[in-house]
Amino acid sequence: MAGAGALRARFRAPLDPGALALSASTEEDLLLLPYDLWGSVAHARMLGATGILPGATARRIEAGLKAIGADAARGRFPLDPALEDVHLNVETALTERIGPDGGRLHTARSRNDQVALDLALYLRDALRGLEGEATATSRSLLVAARAPSAGSVVAGWTHLQPAQALYWRQILATHALRFLRDAERFRGIRRRLTESPLGSGAIAGSSLPIDRHLSARLLGFRRPTASSLDGVSDRDALAETVFAASMTDLHAGALAEELVLGSMAGVDRVRLHDAFVTTSSLMPHKRNPDLAELVRAESGQSLGRLAGLLGVLKGLPIGYQRDLQATKPILFLAVARTTAILRVLARMAETAEYRPDPPRPERSTASVELADALVAAGRPFREAHERVARFVAEAEARGRGLASRDPAELEAAFPELRGSGFALPSASEEPDRRGSFGGSGRGEVERLLREVARRVAASERGLSAEARRVRRLRARMGVPEGWGFVPRASP
Ligand code: ARG
Repeated sequence: MAGAGALRARFRAPLDPGALALSASTEEDLLLLPYDLWGSVAHARMLGATGILPGATARRIEAGLKAIGADAARGRFPLDPALEDVHLNVETALTERIGPDGGRLHTARSRNDQVALDLALYLRDALRGLEGEATATSRSLLVAARAPSAGSVVAGWTHLQPAQALYWRQILATHALRFLRDAERFRGIRRRLTESPLGSGAIAGSSLPIDRHLSARLLGFRRPTASSLDGVSDRDALAETVFAASMTDLHAGALAEELVLGSMAGVDRVRLHDAFVTTSSLMPHKRNPDLAELVRAESGQSLGRLAGLLGVLKGLPIGYQRDLQATKPILFLAVARTTAILRVLARMAETAEYRPDPPRPERSTASVELADALVAAGRPFREAHERVARFVAEAEARGRGLASRDPAELEAAFPELRGSGFALPSASEEPDRRGSFGGSGRGEVERLLREVARRVAASERGLSAEARRVRRLRARMGVPEGWGFVPRASP
């Protein structure tokens, strides 16, 4: 009997149809197919090199796998759910192609180490893809931050109340820093993916003289996992990836919120490009930030996915448990959704127009600068805070703010400032008053932009180097590009 049935020689009944449907992972496994083939080629070579299989048999197996790969690359290798998963689909197709020798491929290998290997290879590519998306988002924000309109000044908010005036540039570059940290997180996970699970077998390795170091090297890993048991049970990198994707989604949601609030009537500090707004089916005047809202919503869904994944992993005994299969769709969805929202958000942020706050007589955002001037004149800060607070309250009683108080009033209330040269800054002068490292001053914001630019470029260079490394590894094994990872925006 072929396929899944071939594994059931010890049973008297085939698997119940409902049970088969529940157990099949063929839908999500399509993403693992190229990696399953590549890993199988490495395994076949190792079996040939160690003499476990005759060289000619190993080569026939390799040729068969590559023929399947060519079909798959043309979309002509649908996975049959009756064969449970990608692994049995490949083995069955191989046997159909090359005959009973196809049944030798699974020597000293289990689907348990196979799926762990497939996931490691997939993750290596997917993490590079995610790092690329996060880096590209930072690059878009850098472009936005450098646009002339981002030189405008708005009130920075704490508690959504006007706090201190800032250049739009600083706000945008700070969002870019967050996505750079995300890119660095993805890179860190990828760089720690150095061990090959292949050859772990079901949980305990093999009695045949396999060479795990050889297959690890062929696939670009530094070494085999130190324990076969760890090889089949470790899903740490998968969980870290889902976490890092959630963190990225959270950052995306925060930027989206910035755009939603900024384009709110009365705030008017962001004008989204027409390509990223929608209208109402009823109210013809509406200009709605739906896309930003959907990005914001994704971060909520993503947190649910992360909790779901950790829930699946919680309390699993070491070794292989079928629960681990349930981690795959969560991972694939996380990768696809994060990719999708970053692509839209990056364009939305890059094409938006950033505007200054309109002049507001009720503005009091330079209160700290006034208090600092009193400190410079020798007053304790706590006393300065209190006096400025009263001075602001008097203005507010007249429906105005600090910005509306004239120099004579200032001198009367704060005689120690006479001759100090202090003047209340206008909104556009205010950010430059704060020249501390990383602060809102022009020079510091320029330094911040240079730092973002440097880190974006470093990430882009690292990504190209990794792409070349993987291409070389593939080429060395005659595994074509088409078997590679294509970042997809939908699962
Ligand atoms: N399809 C499984 C997975 O994705 C791998 C197969 C392991 N099955 C088993 N019964 N040991 O995790």
